[in-house]
Amino acid sequence: MIIGVPKEIKNNENRVGLTPAGVKEIIMRGHQVYVQQSAGLNSGFPDEAYLSAGANLLPTIEEVYAVAEMIVKVKEPIASEYPLIRENQLLFTYFHFASDENLTKAMIASKAVCLAYETVEKPDGSLPLLIPMSEVAGRMATQEGTRFLEKPQGGKGILLGGVPGVKPAKVLVLGGGIVGFNAAKMAAGLGAEVIIADISLPRLRWLNENLPANVKTLYSSSHNIEGELRDTDLVIGAVLIPGAKAPYVLTKEMIPLLKKGSVLVDVAIDQGGCFETSHATTHANPVYEINGVIHYCVANIPGAVPHTSTLALTNATLPYVITLANEGWEKACEMDHGLRLGLNIVKGKIVYQAVAEAFGWA
Ligand SMILES: NC(=O)c1ccc[n+]([C@@H]2O[C@H](COP(=O)([O-])OP(=O)(O)OC[C@H]3O[C@@H](n4cnc5c(N)ncnc54)[C@H](O)[C@@H]3O)[C@@H](O)[C@H]2O)c1
Repeated sequence: MIIGVPKEIKNNENRVGLTPAGVKEIIMRGHQVYVQQSAGLNSGFPDEAYLSAGANLLPTIEEVYAVAEMIVKVKEPIASEYPLIRENQLLFTYFHFASDENLTKAMIASKAVCLAYETVEKPDGSLPLLIPMSEVAGRMATQEGTRFLEKPQGGKGILLGGVPGVKPAKVLVLGGGIVGFNAAKMAAGLGAEVIIADISLPRLRWLNENLPANVKTLYSSSHNIEGELRDTDLVIGAVLIPGAKAPYVLTKEMIPLLKKGSVLVDVAIDQGGCFETSHATTHANPVYEINGVIHYCVANIPGAVPHTSTLALTNATLPYVITLANEGWEKACEMDHGLRLGLNIVKGKIVYQAVAEAFGWA
């Protein structure tokens, strides 16, 4: 199969759909890969690395779309890419159709086959192509929260791990899923006193067994959260109710309970945020203050570490890319029910019910 990797052109998107190592694996199996010039540069992969892996380089995005039977990328196509997409072409990328009616209509009109990373499932119902980005975002949440606790960044001026004779900072993680577990693990590793809260008792049991002793679990309720806030330095919001807007687990009435210079990191901002005072920010301008409490609400946290994020994403996508290239999308989706769930739009028809329902087209 001929596979194309265009350069991402969405604002501030520095990741790339395949690494040189991934390209090599694909070519070893008898396929051809065409990469747009400088596509991997911002992730730390120069053109020469793709050439050494056996890829062909093309100077323009138009040429990549024109030659490829399958496009492997990261973000959904943006308007300038719509006319480049061809009938029957396979697009394997994040789409998030339900939040973008124009994109949905454009992909229906293109008659392409849209296989969305975000709806591919494993037999246990987990989402293997979303998990790596939650792992990155969870770890980054602690890293960024720690940074903004520093005095020159506006924070309390407190070191997460303390030092001998001085108590460490206290970190409260709300939501103990993939993001929350990774945030708590990082904070614990830096020596903080960590509390992680969730509403799922089986999950709290699992967290209790799998996190170090300086992490305590807590059932998530307004009462319990209020009880923790007075001496908390960093709160990380990582709550998710699948398919729904995030609930407010930290209300605006609770903000005065926090001391000035405390830091809130709302990772759930991409689902509307789980703190009532959150609004989305960017890497260029990541924080704002309310009542002296710093809010960090960047909606694409993994974008700050494109090298790590690209490697993490492509580790997860590569086995699927190889199967799709070897078998073609129809046979590959027949063989793997979880991959079939990634099909959102096929040759002009929506085949994923939640997408149709999102626009009242069911
Ligand atoms: N900002 C970013 O760059 C970025 C990157 C990756 C993920 N995210 C977002 O982070 C959020 C968390 O993702 P995840 O992969 O960890 O999800 P997940 O499903 O693994 O975990 C969510 C957890 O929240 C818990 N929960 C639900 N309601 C709760 C409540 N009221 N109080 C406490 N816990 C509650 C669930 O029981 C679950 O354990 C999602 O909104 C996701 O989209 C954001």
